[in-house]
Amino acid sequence: MRLQDKVIMVTGGAKGIGGATAKICASYGAKVIAVDYNEARVKQNVDEIIAAGGDAIWAVADVTKRDQIIAAINKGLEKYGRIDGLFNAAGVDRICSILDMSDDEYDYNMNINVKGTFICSAEVAKVMIENGNKGRIVNTSSIAAVREEAHNMTYCVSKAAVSMMTRVMALEWAPYNITTVAVQPGNIETDILRESFTNRGKAEGKDVKEFYTEMEATIPMGYIGRPEEIGEFVAFLFDDRSAYINGNSILMAGGKIMA
Ligand SMILES: NC(=O)c1ccc[n+]([C@@H]2O[C@H](COP(=O)([O-])OP(=O)(O)OC[C@H]3O[C@@H](n4cnc5c(N)ncnc54)[C@H](O)[C@@H]3O)[C@@H](O)[C@H]2O)c1
Repeated sequence: MRLQDKVIMVTGGAKGIGGATAKICASYGAKVIAVDYNEARVKQNVDEIIAAGGDAIWAVADVTKRDQIIAAINKGLEKYGRIDGLFNAAGVDRICSILDMSDDEYDYNMNINVKGTFICSAEVAKVMIENGNKGRIVNTSSIAAVREEAHNMTYCVSKAAVSMMTRVMALEWAPYNITTVAVQPGNIETDILRESFTNRGKAEGKDVKEFYTEMEATIPMGYIGRPEEIGEFVAFLFDDRSAYINGNSILMAGGKIMA
């Protein structure tokens, strides 16, 4: 992978898919700005990157708070002087049935997954444009953008929005040499998945083990994916050799696709 000297910001960079991708990009020579609202975990992830010989810094920010994201970007610019790539991995999945959903509950997944991706992308794109450097933005959609899940309406809708946002960004920013792609992970072994399976299982009157086994059976490859299996591909999306991929969402789900 050719990521030497690239500066890549990763939101959700504390753990899970973002955390693993931060480590993988650093292992290929990128300088990483890991951003998360979980201070202890993002610091720990960066400590591990540095201990392994990588170059990274961390910043605490909530992706829905523009001032905090601008401060995180500025911290990165002070250290590295530029940003070549952004991986928007911060996200949440709080399940709720449509009939039980309050307006606040509706806003929760939508704000973090959709508005957070918009704010981080727009602020990083402004820096790339101002610096006149080309850039790559990778968003995190989900198989849930194309495969409906009961009791998970706002998550599905938020991820469909992220895929469409990726297309519009590709149109608006291609003239600036900024390209955007979304990954659509299937079921990946992280905290979000464990929490979601527990709660969706409960909503269907099943225990987590039963629901987990049922979900595994929907994957032709027969296993829940690992965060690193997404991260290696995201690293390739920051390699210039993948630059002609622009605007689309790439499903990475072990063969699990729309029924
Ligand atoms: N795990 C899966 O099966 C799966 C499948 C499809 C898509 N995804 C997406 O992958 C992305 C990463 O999730 P994950 O599975 O690694 O889960 P995770 O919970 O391990 O990681 C999510 C990270 O985002 C951070 N975060 C959440 N809200 C934030 C906010 N407002 N500001 C800053 N940081 C915030 C969390 O602190 C955490 O470090 C999410 O967008 C998720 O929707 C996950």
